[in-house]
Amino acid sequence: MRRFTGLSLLHLETVDSTNSYILSRPELLSRAGLVVYADRQTRGRGRMGRRWFSGKKGNLIASLVIYPDLPESYLSCMTLLVGLGVHGALSALGLADLSIKWPNDILIAGKKVCGILCETTVTPGGRVVVAGIGLNMIGGDDDFPPEVRGRLTTLESHGLGPGREEMLEFVLDHVDQVLCLASDGRMEMLFEKWEGCSSSIGRRVRFRRGGNTCVATIAGLGPRGDLAVRLEDSGAMVSVVSGEVEYL
Ligand code: BTN
Repeated sequence: MRRFTGLSLLHLETVDSTNSYILSRPELLSRAGLVVYADRQTRGRGRMGRRWFSGKKGNLIASLVIYPDLPESYLSCMTLLVGLGVHGALSALGLADLSIKWPNDILIAGKKVCGILCETTVTPGGRVVVAGIGLNMIGGDDDFPPEVRGRLTTLESHGLGPGREEMLEFVLDHVDQVLCLASDGRMEMLFEKWEGCSSSIGRRVRFRRGGNTCVATIAGLGPRGDLAVRLEDSGAMVSVVSGEVEYL
């Protein structure tokens, strides 16, 4: 029995963005555990203000309304937790060479198969997280726009063909399990698990900090799920809480 997500489903044919659709409707935002999924998005949104391209019908485009049972200081970790859940679902399907790139891109053999956009807002019922999941299920490289070709992949390209609805249920089960563990106070264990699934630990990366570009090596997750990195120029350890890193 799920506690946090997948308690009710709403299917739409075409929508601008499943995240925007929920965020602009208080009556949906108030429905803890609701999942809105769509066949097509006309203005899918990615992290850092980018567009998200979900192509033809058959890919998984879903947004989860989650009321997390977590101390406020851990809310920023929701993005890691949802990523861990999606990773768990894909890993249980037997996919090899699966990893998470901080904060929550899911990669197969270094190419992105899933992106996650978590947006938080406040409702009369408390803080709510809308967790948007875009999972590339069908097609191949030719189905992506030229600017992202070669950097993305699909489950079909790796011989996996569960139906979209089946995959959605599977993902929801895994995300819910992670959220239950988090609610039971198992954050430290979940961070360790995340580190074990991530391709980011030990990597040399470039990232933006206070208007500057820094080069650093990723040490691991800090106590609040931030990214602990050692700067190459000064040797200082600093914490990265948002944004993204580029592998060097
Ligand atoms: C990223 O990697 O930049 C995040 C991509 C998130 C895409 C999903 S698709 C469902 C939901 N609706 C959106 O507009 N975005 C998210």
